Amino acid sequence: MNAHRPHPMMPVSNHDEISEQLAIVDMKAFLGLKIEPCQRLLLEKKVKPNFEAKKGEPARNHQELRKEMEKETSYQAWLTMNSVAQDMMWDAVGTCVDRQIEDLNKKAKIKNPKGSLTTNPGFEVPNYISARDIHRMPGNYHGTYGSEDVRQGALFDRGAVVYQMGRNGGYMNDIRGHTIVSHCFSRWSDIKPLKILDMGCTVGHSTLAIASYFPQAQTFAIDVGEGMLRYAHARAERLNIPVHFSQQNAEETNFPDNEFDLITSSAVLHETSGKALPKIFDECMRILKPGGVMSHLEVPSRMDDMDTWGRIRGDYEIQYNYEPFWKGALTADFHSLAEKSGFKEVTVGFQDATPKAVRGNKNFGGPSKGVHRSWLMISGVK
Ligand SMILES: C[S@@+](CC[C@H](N)C(=O)[O-])C[C@H]1O[C@@H](n2cnc3c(N)ncnc32)[C@H](O)[C@@H]1O
Repeated sequence: MNAHRPHPMMPVSNHDEISEQLAIVDMKAFLGLKIEPCQRLLLEKKVKPNFEAKKGEPARNHQELRKEMEKETSYQAWLTMNSVAQDMMWDAVGTCVDRQIEDLNKKAKIKNPKGSLTTNPGFEVPNYISARDIHRMPGNYHGTYGSEDVRQGALFDRGAVVYQMGRNGGYMNDIRGHTIVSHCFSRWSDIKPLKILDMGCTVGHSTLAIASYFPQAQTFAIDVGEGMLRYAHARAERLNIPVHFSQQNAEETNFPDNEFDLITSSAVLHETSGKALPKIFDECMRILKPGGVMSHLEVPSRMDDMDTWGRIRGDYEIQYNYEPFWKGALTADFHSLAEKSGFKEVTVGFQDATPKAVRGNKNFGGPSKGVHRSWLMISGVK
């Protein structure tokens, strides 16, 4: 798996498409690195002091100050530019995918697969997914355009290369998967699962990285979208890593009790809901074998540690980037939730991001180094 080269299922971008995608990466970097710090300054040097001077007391919360920021032309422009850059990204990637969709659909037909794909025609997509196009991705995770279609998977895979701007492992986008294994190796240095489940796998970015450390194991992966999973299956087969994909809700799967040695998820919990979260933990408890390990990766930001700008920035994710459960996940007491589901040896802490997991590493338990350099890990044992 070479992070610097597109894998065989990756939509191919021609010269003009690459130029457009790179221009959008530059624009996103410019907005994040040059314009966003100005918004923080605007808040700290003008909006907050003026608001508090007028009021005669400190602002009660970040929402009060966000409303003041929303009166500023500069902030309005930043909100618009960020959203437009995101829409431009999906539009550019969508054009590239649609130009070759027939080829991609053909390539996704795999003869003699080593893994498998099970779709569920009656599947009910949870409403926290179906309510909005998360990340503004048109068609979202679950959009499907026919029984042979892989469009949403191709869109997500190519889009992630642009969206992550190289920070999650280039074309493979798999650093989070390596980081999950690194976390397991740091807590249980001799862990050797024989049956693994990755929940909310999308196109399998993290799933394949996890599976690559345990070639003796059978790896399963679930998500909600048929087209997404069809692409994930083809991608895994073409990368020669057998995985059994199925269309299932992580809250209630059809796996038997006591089935898995290791259950993982990567950046999934913040896209669920307050009601789903305990159900997912309960489901992990049900389908793990006694002694099995649950290991969820999440964004390494906690609301309590954030300053006012960080919280206002978080509101952008909810309101404009359509992250349904951003605030809920950043305030969730994962430790208690895991214990309530019956997990033992529960830890919640930061794991350094890595492209290669090493058994016995000591990279867990330090402070957060920020998104992409560290991740929050929630883990426990049944
Ligand atoms: C940000 S993506 C995860 C990315 C992927 N795990 C990786 O590391 O590349 C979130 C995924 O979680 C899936 N998801 C959210 N809720 C789910 C549920 N209840 N059951 C199954 N999948 C779910 C979404 O459909 C989406 O594909």
